[in-house]
Amino acid sequence: MSALLPSYRLLLNDRLPVILRPLTPDDRERITDAFRRLSPESTYFRFWTRVQGANPKFIERLCTNDDGQHRTWVIVIENNDDIPGVGGGSYWRSEGLEDSAEVSFTVADEFQGQGVGTLLLAVLWAEAQEAGLRQFVAYVMDENHVMLTWWANLGAAHVKQSHGGWELTLRLDETLLPDTSAANSLRRRLGFLRAAAADA
Ligand SMILES: CC(C)(COP(=O)(O)OP(=O)(O)OC[C@H]1O[C@@H](n2cnc3c(N)ncnc32)[C@H](O)[C@@H]1OP(=O)(O)O)[C@@H](O)C(=O)NCCC(=O)NCCS
Repeated sequence: MSALLPSYRLLLNDRLPVILRPLTPDDRERITDAFRRLSPESTYFRFWTRVQGANPKFIERLCTNDDGQHRTWVIVIENNDDIPGVGGGSYWRSEGLEDSAEVSFTVADEFQGQGVGTLLLAVLWAEAQEAGLRQFVAYVMDENHVMLTWWANLGAAHVKQSHGGWELTLRLDETLLPDTSAANSLRRRLGFLRAAAADA
């Protein structure tokens, strides 16, 4: 039995009801719109460029099933055409490193700080563990203090890159998580996702 349900109905930290589910090819327009609405700063932190919106080729890759090489989960609000997406997170298996995957997150500006990133990390973590992965790697800009602090509080290793930015490595082992607010939130979300699947 899978450790995860096909989708979840749950509440964000501010009690907003949302749906957490995998991205599907039908989401192309939705995520194109969502990336277009991102602020210049969030776009810069996510894509390392100030050009607004996501590259269509990238969106095509995101929406294409490629035999387990990558997974994307999104959080959306049901029956709300005004807000295309609350957030999304992906992992992509690293070439040549069997147990490692690169991970990235995008949370719509108005929903940041509501536990969306934590929830996305939890679902990717649970799924990646099932798929035999042992660590997530994220590449983060020097100015991205939220991401750098969040992952430092999860116990991630930080390595400065010679060409700028940081490589953050997070082992997918709950016993290694420190006793911090960020790690405790992640533990709670992992527990919730697994318990819901076990009860189903
Ligand atoms: C980085 C990002 C994914 C975090 O997502 P999020 O939904 O805001 O994160 P959460 O609400 O789950 O919070 C995670 C931690 O960050 C902290 N945090 C979130 N936003 C914060 C802010 N604006 N200022 C300070 N801390 C913040 C939270 O307090 C929490 O830490 P805590 O548990 O110790 O309190 C989101 O800010 C984002 O999409 N940024 C733009 C794109 C980006 O930087 N992507 C990452 C590159 S891979």
